[in-house]
This record gives sequence, structure tokens and C-alpha cells, in this order.
Amino acid sequence: MVKFAGVALAASLVSLVRATATTAHTSVTLVFQNNLNASDDANHVGSLLLDPMRQSDAASACESFGESLLSSSTLKAHKTDFLQALSYNAFAGHASPVQLYYIDGGVAGVAETLGELTFQGFPFGNVELPVLCTQSSNQDQPGNAVATASNQISVTSNKNTFVGFRNQKSFRFLGIPYADPPKRFVNSNLFSKTGQTIQATAYGSQCSQSGGVGGEDCLFLNIQTPFIPKAGSISNLRPVMFWIHGGGFTGGTGADPGSDGGNLASREDIVTVTINYRLSTLGFLAIPGTNITGNFGIGDQINALQWTIENIAQFGGDPQKITINGESAGAGSVRVLLGSPPAIGKFQGAIAMSNLGGGVGLGLSSDYGTTYSSYLTVAGSYAIAGQNILQGVGCNQSSLEEQLACLDTTPANTIVSLDGGNTVARYVVQDGHFVNTENLDVVNRNGSAADVNVIFGVCANDGASFSTYPRTPVNSESEGIQASLGINAENAQKIIDSGLFPFFDSGNLTLDSFNVSQRVATDLQFRCVDQATMYAGAKSRAFKSTYSYQMQRTGAGYDPNGLGGPPVTPGFPNGNPNLPYFRLHGSDMPWVFGNLGTLRDADDLYSIQLESGYFAEFIKTGQPNPDTAYLKVRGYTKSLEAIEQTGPWEAVSGPTGPMRLMDYPSVKAEFQDLAQCAFLNYSISYYLDGGL
Ligand SMILES: *[C@@H]1O[C@H](CO)[C@@H](O)[C@H](O)[C@H]1NC(C)=O
Ligand SMILES: *[C@@H]1O[C@H](CO)[C@@H](O)[C@H](O)[C@H]1NC(C)=O
Ligand SMILES: *[C@@H]1O[C@H](CO)[C@@H](O)[C@H](O)[C@H]1NC(C)=O
Ligand SMILES: *[C@@H]1O[C@H](CO)[C@@H](O)[C@H](O)[C@H]1NC(C)=O
Ligand SMILES: *[C@@H]1O[C@H](CO)[C@@H](O)[C@H](O)[C@H]1NC(C)=O
Ligand SMILES: *[C@@H]1O[C@H](CO)[C@@H](O)[C@H](O)[C@H]1NC(C)=O
Ligand SMILES: *[C@@H]1O[C@H](CO)[C@@H](O)[C@H](O)[C@H]1NC(C)=O
Repeated sequence: MVKFAGVALAASLVSLVRATATTAHTSVTLVFQNNLNASDDANHVGSLLLDPMRQSDAASACESFGESLLSSSTLKAHKTDFLQALSYNAFAGHASPVQLYYIDGGVAGVAETLGELTFQGFPFGNVELPVLCTQSSNQDQPGNAVATASNQISVTSNKNTFVGFRNQKSFRFLGIPYADPPKRFVNSNLFSKTGQTIQATAYGSQCSQSGGVGGEDCLFLNIQTPFIPKAGSISNLRPVMFWIHGGGFTGGTGADPGSDGGNLASREDIVTVTINYRLSTLGFLAIPGTNITGNFGIGDQINALQWTIENIAQFGGDPQKITINGESAGAGSVRVLLGSPPAIGKFQGAIAMSNLGGGVGLGLSSDYGTTYSSYLTVAGSYAIAGQNILQGVGCNQSSLEEQLACLDTTPANTIVSLDGGNTVARYVVQDGHFVNTENLDVVNRNGSAADVNVIFGVCANDGASFSTYPRTPVNSESEGIQASLGINAENAQKIIDSGLFPFFDSGNLTLDSFNVSQRVATDLQFRCVDQATMYAGAKSRAFKSTYSYQMQRTGAGYDPNGLGGPPVTPGFPNGNPNLPYFRLHGSDMPWVFGNLGTLRDADDLYSIQLESGYFAEFIKTGQPNPDTAYLKVRGYTKSLEAIEQTGPWEAVSGPTGPMRLMDYPSVKAEFQDLAQCAFLNYSISYYLDGGL
């Protein structure tokens, strides 16, 4: 009886639930005037903007999205937001400058002089006008964005239907399988099923990684978009940012809230795709003499790109305007894709945030970053990691065949959770297909590098995340440097004697010697390789154009030393960014995505508005300087002021840059630490000298 009653109840609920919204009859734009101030989200409301239609159809069109016609009182209560949003809609060419919009009981428009909304009754003749609906799905953060019966929307692409949803800032399609579940140590292939209804309302599994999380069926991507075109239409498509997460090629996920694209979608009117790819040994194992040739994770990234090209138009994205962007190992991936024949042609721009590299020096046979920019051979990877892995998981039988069979039946978790040094195959290798050179060729104009616009840059203290803060206080600068960099006294003394890394005396010897070490590490592992790459790429014109930055203001980052941010002082309960702190690896993400939960001061917000604006503009047009008319129309006053005050971010044009130091405002500067890089044997002409 109970069971029967339950079934009956479920059936009656189903009959009440509205059909999932579609774009069968109209495109839909999620309008939200986003100032990127998270604590201000609650004070703003958005709307859904529909295509021109007759007044008699407008209310039911809103209803089909679970909404109603927007009221004039809501428009008036949020006048500035709507004025700016509607002015931008016209500026972007989606409406006329004197456009009228159907709202509840009449029409609204923007007065030609700007500055005022106008309201009138319904015009005669049932003319076709765009429609403004309420937008009641107001969860502001990715963490609290949930699909409900009334906020879902379905999109059909390539014979599959994807059910996503919306929150306050964007339409969200999560956990889309872009490839078939991959076979272990075999290149993935594009998702091949058709006729599927894919519930894209929750993230898919992350890829197996240490700590025992994730799984092997993990090739999912996520989309945040401000706009979904009418089914069958491909007009008004928005530029796409394709995000490749970092995590040392051993961890991370495209579901990280720090790389959620909802803020960029609403603030900058672009589409974001974030992907998972295979990691660690499951993504990168390479064994000579077998078909296990490595780079499975890179192949996954390229399949995700291909899926994006084939499908993103139906989600509002322009498949011919894709910028790949990644941080850390994601930036390393961008560097790989820039030289990968199967990837070239699949993207139009590239951003590498804190790519790693590095050379030999100071008694180090190689540093941690070297293999991110200089690729091992299959045999080299096996010698470092592969053989230890087989041994570590107990697959050290005498024949290779037995070893491979054993590896196939070893649980994923065991493979990615080995303890001990060099038991993770996290290296991109020269596999002859995805990667066929030891280095990205930035020397020859018609070499291996994609002919696209690029941005490379670093955080001011990336290396502080890769140097060891001494466990116990030290008694001399040399002792501190040795402990932090893992080098001997002689090499520590070379650093001191060079005079190039002056000791900054704050009265805390351990901290101050660490400060010297982190500068060496930042130069050696990040700054020098990236500056040398940009200079060579600009000089040879291997890239269409090359922009360089360094982040001077950042938030929380990769912090294995527990350094924290700037100290709290009166008036700065979240830390005082005017006091010294290290700009750690990964700490710049909010400045690109606009995702900073807690502001320390007003300049945090203004710098985030400004910098996310530069990156978004690059994604839109291939150069980072937003048009002042755009900034005016959108009401992005603080960004406009900064740009008027300090001029454009110029492309690299010579051995001294220029580059951009990012803060509020950002300023033009020369490449940093050129003498230090030369001392470290990684001079600005490193690639041009053939000093590989
Ligand atoms: C690699 O794969 C191909 C095609 O499946 C197969 O013919 C070949 O024997 C394999 N090679 C090795 C070394 O396992
Ligand atoms: C740079 O290279 C030269 C020549 O190989 C070597 O003598 C010197 O020690 C290196 N410098 C550093 C800082 O490693
Ligand atoms: C496999 O490794 C174990 C443990 O290190 C060792 O005892 C054994 O001799 C190895 N077997 C082969 C075939 O190398
Ligand atoms: C590179 O290729 C382009 C187009 O094929 C050609 O016009 C140009 O001369 C080449 N440049 C160099 C430096 O080889
Ligand atoms: C030196 O600075 C470190 C890092 O901020 C701090 O943990 C330590 O307590 C300081 N030591 C002294 C003696 O102030
Ligand atoms: C590190 O040293 C630089 C000078 O080289 C100084 O400006 C900065 O404040 C120091 N950072 C910290 C966290 O003490
Ligand atoms: C952010 O929003 C809060 C809440 O509206 C406001 O009090 C604060 O002044 C804003 N911060 C800035 C820098 O505009």
C-alpha cells in the first residue's frame, strides 16, 4: 500500500512539473550587471532577454522559462544595472540604440540621451520586440548553484540533448562527457554516442589522483555561458575561453570553483569551457617499445578542444574564437598545445599563466620545472618514473608482456597513490604524435609553434611556492638559501656574491634569506623561461603577437610553506595588501576569473575588474586593451580610469619587453630580472642563442 501510494504521488508531481525550457522558439540571454564584488551580488537582479516576438506571445515565452514578464518596478529599482545592460546590448549590436523591450504591462527602453529608462504602454499593432523576463534563479556562487525543475534548460547538439540550468550569473552545463570512457593507457576518442539525454547539472568525476579521489571515467567538461542561441541558429556567438587546470599534471579538476566561468560570462559576455584530463601515471605513463607512449592527458585535452569546436555554437560560443588558457601545469599544457600538430588550428589564442621551465645550474642537475618546457623522451620518462612505478605496484615480472598485463589489472588508485620519489609519470614526452620536438620552436617563424596571439606571465613570487621555508630558524643568509633551495654552501655563496639578489633586511633572518631564495626560484623556474620564450617568439614572429605580465597583487595561492597572505592590521580584517607578502603560485586566478570571495581593500576589486577585463578582451579580439567606448557603455568606470591613466598594455617588441605589472592600475615596465636570468644561465636570448 505504502509503495503504491508513493508511486501515485510521484506520478501526480510529474504532471505538475513544467517541461524543461528549450530554445526552440527564441534565443535566451542571461543579463546580469556584474561588478565582481561577491558581497554585492545579493543587491542585484538580472533578467532573461528573449528574441523579438509579438506582444501576444511574450508572457508565455517567459513562462516557458519558468519566469514572468519583468515589471517596471524591478527595472526602476535596479535602474543603473538595467540601463548599462541594455545599453551594452545595443552597443554589442544585438539591438538598436533606441530599442523598446516588452515588459509587464508595456514596453521599456533606454532614452537616446542615455541615463534614463523610459516606460510606455503597449504599442499598437502587436509589433515584434525583444522581451525582458524575470530571472529568479539567484544562487550567486558556483557552490550553491543547483538545478531545479524551474531553472533547467535543454540544448541539442550533434544529436544529443544536454540538460543544464542557470544561476544568477550564467547558464551552466556541467559534467558533459566529451570523450568515451577511456581505456587505460590508450588515447581517448571523442564521445561517440548519439540520441542521448545528458543530465548536465552536476560535475562529473575528477580524474584519478593521489589521495584516492576520482576515477578513470573522468573525461568531462563544463560550460558557463551568458547566451544560448535559438535552436538551429548560430548568430551572435560569443568568444570562448577554454580552461586547462593546473596541479602538476597529477591533480586538479575543471570543477574548481576558482575557475568557474559564471563571473566572466556575465561581466565580459564570453563563454567558458573547463575540462578534466587524465592525470599522473594514468595520464602520462610512457614505456619504450610499447604502445604506451604517454601524453594521454594531452590527447584528452585535444579531444576536449575538438568537442568544443563541434558543439559550442549550440551553447552560444564561437568555435572560431577559442583561446586556450591554463595555469601551472595548465600553462605547461598550453605550451605543449602551441607546438602540437594535432592541436594547431583548433584555437586562435593562448594564455599561459605561470608556466614552468628551468635549466641546469647552481649544482642542480635539473630543477623541478625543467620538464614542463623541455620534453623528455619516452625512454627518459621511463628511466625516471616508469620503471619505479612497475616496481612500486608489484608489476616487475620478468617479461614486458607480463608487466603490462599486471598493470592493466592494478587498481587505478594503487597506480596513482604510490609513495616515494619518482613514482609518478607526470612528464610530457616526445611521443612523435602529440609532441615531436624537445622544445617549442619559438625561433623560426614557420617552425612548430601555432601562429596565434599569446600572453605569458607569472606571479611576482611564483617560486616562493617551490622553495622550502626552513623548518628551524637559520643563523646566516647562506644557511637559509641552502635549506630553501637544496643547494650547497658554494652555490649559495655564488648567489650572494653575485650581488644580484640583495638581502632585504626586515629583521627576520630566516624570512629574509627565504625571500632571496624565492627570487632565485621564481627566476629559475618561471620568469626567465617565460620571458625568453616571449622575446624569442616576438622577435622571430613565431607568434602573431606576444604580451607579457607579472602579477603584483594576488590572493591565496599554492602555499606548502604556510606563508599566508599579508598581516591583518586595524581597518584590514582580511589582511593589509599594502604590507609585504608573497604573490604565490596560483594566487592570481581570481584576477583572471573575477572570482574573489573576500576583498581586502577596494583596490582588490578594481584590480580584478581591470585585469579580468584585459584577459577577456584578449579572448575577444586577440589583444588585451578594451575599447574605452565599451568600458563607458558597460559602466566599468574604474577600469576606464586606469586605462586612461596608464595607457595600453603593449606587445613585447624587444629584449626588454615591454611588459605589464598588474595591480590597480597596471603599469608598463621592462622585463624583470634580466641580469639575474643571465647569471642563472637563462638569459633573455636563451632560445635565440640555441642555448637549449
Ligand atoms: C601496438 O598496437 C598495434 C595496433 O593495435 C599492434 O599491432 C602492435 O602490435 C602494438 N605494438 C606493441 C609493441 O605492442
Ligand atoms: C652557468 O654556466 C657556466 C658555464 O657552464 C657555469 O660555469 C656556471 O656555474 C653556470 N652558472 C650558474 C649560476 O649555474
Ligand atoms: C620484483 O620486486 C621484488 C621486490 O622488490 C623483488 O623481490 C623481486 O625479485 C622482483 N622480481 C623481478 C622479476 O625482478
Ligand atoms: C613563412 O611562411 C609564409 C607563408 O607560407 C611565407 O610567406 C614566409 O616567407 C615564410 N617565412 C619564413 C621566415 O620562412
Ligand atoms: C619570521 O617570519 C616568519 C614567516 O612570516 C614567521 O613565521 C616567524 O615567526 C618570524 N620570526 C621572527 C623571529 O619574527
Ligand atoms: C622581499 O624582498 C623585497 C626586496 O627584494 C621586498 O620588497 C619585499 O617586501 C620582501 N618580501 C617580504 C614578504 O618580506
Ligand atoms: C562591495 O559590496 C559591498 C556590499 O554592497 C559594499 O559594502 C562594498 O563597499 C563594495 N566594495 C567595493 C570596493 O565597492
